[in-house]
Amino acid sequence: MLILGIESSCDETAAAILADGKTLLADVINSQVDIHALYGGVVPELASRQHIRNISHVVDTALKEAGLTLDQIDGLAVTEGPGLVGCLLVGHTYAKALSLVRQIPMVGVDHLTGHLLSIFLAEQHPAFPYIAMVASGGHSSIFLAEGPEKFKLLGRTRDDAAGEAFDKVAKLLGLGYPGGPFISRAAEEGDPEAINFPRAWLGRDNLDFSFSGLKTAVANYVSQHKKKNMELNIADLCASFQEAIVEVITTKTLRAASQNGCRNIVLAGGVGANPRLRELMLNRGGAENKSVFLTPKRFCTDNAAMIALAGYFKFRGNAEICPDSDVYSRSTFS
Ligand code: KG4
Ligand code: ZN
Repeated sequence: MLILGIESSCDETAAAILADGKTLLADVINSQVDIHALYGGVVPELASRQHIRNISHVVDTALKEAGLTLDQIDGLAVTEGPGLVGCLLVGHTYAKALSLVRQIPMVGVDHLTGHLLSIFLAEQHPAFPYIAMVASGGHSSIFLAEGPEKFKLLGRTRDDAAGEAFDKVAKLLGLGYPGGPFISRAAEEGDPEAINFPRAWLGRDNLDFSFSGLKTAVANYVSQHKKKNMELNIADLCASFQEAIVEVITTKTLRAASQNGCRNIVLAGGVGANPRLRELMLNRGGAENKSVFLTPKRFCTDNAAMIALAGYFKFRGNAEICPDSDVYSRSTFS
């Protein structure tokens, strides 16, 4: 079964072709980072317009890369939400048009579900059930994954997402956009214990997150240094900030695993590409006798391969194949 996946929920226009839920024949991502970097964050209007410019070319390139024509595609999978509505509409409308004109069945896919299943694009993946930590620019949530269409939300952020905190702190420090990679690179030279930034535990058994206090603590630290004309050690600052985030994410993920008697743990989402988070999750997971599966870095950040994969599971199940579906901005998990 050949699935063409299309993703346009934020600032990446992407298309991928997946054979039988296993073999990736094409994986094309057109990133708009250079456009949004000028503004220090994604500008929704510019993003939608750029998706319109990119979409046909990205899909055509994927088909060419796979050596296929549209006639050979068995199913379309497109991101329906959550995300920026104007952006989602571009991919969704494009897929609907293809579906209707070319008579190809189409399923709408939830973007978070894509992240939750992206581990199946790796050679090493767990069997169900597993605890999945999805840390991205829009979400920081822990799920119990019981099946390819069965996810139970265990905890989520009450304010900023982890990636959002990375991006906002990087902007404050003038490091560039998106912030995560800049901060993790700067942190390599720094001391993670140099500054004791707050960790929001929110109670002993709690699985929710809160990162806005940490962001404010960094802003206060920076402004106090500026007021006193003291030089900032950016490497120490980044390493200490990063440590505060990865420590909370790792601790809560392991907590979720023990609360649910689950041995398998999956790390996914853009922040899942963070080298220190990957290291800590492996080390601490190993020490607690857990099997930790790290989503390959290229599938952590937004891509259409995970959308094609989630679509494959939907086609294989009892998916409603319905080109009348609509996009949505907010997560449907509660
Ligand atoms: O999953 P993703 O591509 O998009 C969303 O669904 O939000 O995640 C993007 C986020 C950004 O906030 C970016 O700063 C963060 O992932 N990110 C990282 C790293 N690479 C990307 N955060 C920390 N360390 C990284 N190495
Ligand atoms: Zn994402």
